[in-house]
Amino acid sequence: MPMPEPESYAFKLYTQKCSLCHRVYHPRMLNKRTWGIIVEKMEKKVQKTERRAPLTKQEKEVILGYLRKYSRERGL
Ligand code: HEC
Repeated sequence: MPMPEPESYAFKLYTQKCSLCHRVYHPRMLNKRTWGIIVEKMEKKVQKTERRAPLTKQEKEVILGYLRKYSRERGL
């Protein structure tokens, strides 16, 4: 499944911030609520490994907005 809106700022930010340790996951993989939990969890990892500064509030909103817009309705 191709990634939605590959030209958007949100997608680019998502790729930039979230492909440091693994490939980026498709937003359809998880639901809205789970994405919230995952982003928090990933932020803790970033802080622990100190490879990069944590996301700003605004960056987090953009990334979560993107993931949630294309997330799945049901299931995890
Ligand atoms: C500091 C390295 C690092 C960064 C940066 C990072 N991740 Fe991860 N991510 C991991 C590791 C390691 C795992 C493997 C599972 C684990 O250890 O919990 C993982 C697993 C995942 C998974 C699979 C589900 C799971 O819990 O195993 C998703 C989805 C995910 N990451 C999303 C993201 C998103 C979204 C971002 C950006 C906000 C992000 N990751 C940034 C290290 C990172």
